[in-house]
Amino acid sequence: MKKNHTMVSTLFIGLTILTATPLAAAEPLELRKIMQDMGAEMAVISEAISREQWTQVENSALRIADHPRPPMSERKRIKSLFGSEMGRFKSYDIKTHSTARELAKVAASEDGAAVIATFATLQSSCLTCHQNFRKPFQRHFYGE
Ligand code: HEC
Repeated sequence: MKKNHTMVSTLFIGLTILTATPLAAAEPLELRKIMQDMGAEMAVISEAISREQWTQVENSALRIADHPRPPMSERKRIKSLFGSEMGRFKSYDIKTHSTARELAKVAASEDGAAVIATFATLQSSCLTCHQNFRKPFQRHFYGE
């Protein structure tokens, strides 16, 4: 009887420790940092439009257009996750690059209305990829 009681207590303590210890959070991928930098540039652009600071818009747009790629090892992991969908993922990335480049161009010409329209197109290019790929990406890499 005493032995049984000890076993139950041990089991109980063990379970408490197990459930109280959070699963180690997965190390975020490089891509997340790249995304955060692009998000920050988008905020700068929005502010610069309000101030008609077209050179600022141009510079931030160029930084988005030339955003770094994740390291090769990470690109391989993403590729094996998306498989046959990888072409679509890449095409959304290309669309973001080319629209950011276009935004830099219209900013240089100081055409405010065109800047706003192109900025909206750029935002849509971000959104399209997020809507299609963010959830499966996070589920796979972070179990979220
Ligand atoms: C080709 C696909 C793709 C494109 C295009 C794309 N993103 Fe992302 N973005 C992702 C994925 C995948 C995640 C999720 C990354 C993660 O959770 O680690 C993400 C996450 C983010 C996040 C959240 C980061 C965080 O801290 O959780 C921000 C901000 C972001 N993107 C900004 C942008 C902006 C701004 C653009 C356009 C200028 C853009 N993204 C274009 C795929 C894309």
